[in-house]
Amino acid sequence: MNQETRIAIGCDHAAVAFKGELADFLRELGYEPVDCGCQEGCEAVDYPDIAEAVCGRITAGDCRTGVLVCGTGIGMSMAANKLPGIRAALCENCFSARYTRLHNDANVICFGARTMGPELAKELLRIFLESEFMGGRHQRRVEKIEALRQR
Ligand code: RB5
Repeated sequence: MNQETRIAIGCDHAAVAFKGELADFLRELGYEPVDCGCQEGCEAVDYPDIAEAVCGRITAGDCRTGVLVCGTGIGMSMAANKLPGIRAALCENCFSARYTRLHNDANVICFGARTMGPELAKELLRIFLESEFMGGRHQRRVEKIEALRQR
């Protein structure tokens, strides 16, 4: 098992095919997608449950980062950002995908299957994975996000 190449991925019922395309893309890039559900033909699921499963893989140290997809990407990002140690970003453009790594050290990227196409999501995911946190003054700010969660 190589934590650096393992990427937790999950979706709700609105995004199963979309998640499959992203998982295939991750394999093409040399990553190992860790599928946390839900699967084709599943009943409607509650996106916070999937967000918890994906984020749990990251906080356990089993996966390097996570990908969450729901209809808009909003519910998944809201749920994921309630969890300790998780910084989830809903991204719809290249600048956000890059800077949420550089400045926010985001460890989860969220997409909306009903608001964007899978080809754009693949490009954003590639940028997200290639971008490195800058640290420095941004480290203090990221630590303040976690401090907010503790209050
Ligand atoms: C499910 O219908 C939908 O609410 C969900 O996929 C997501 O868009 C929530 O934010």
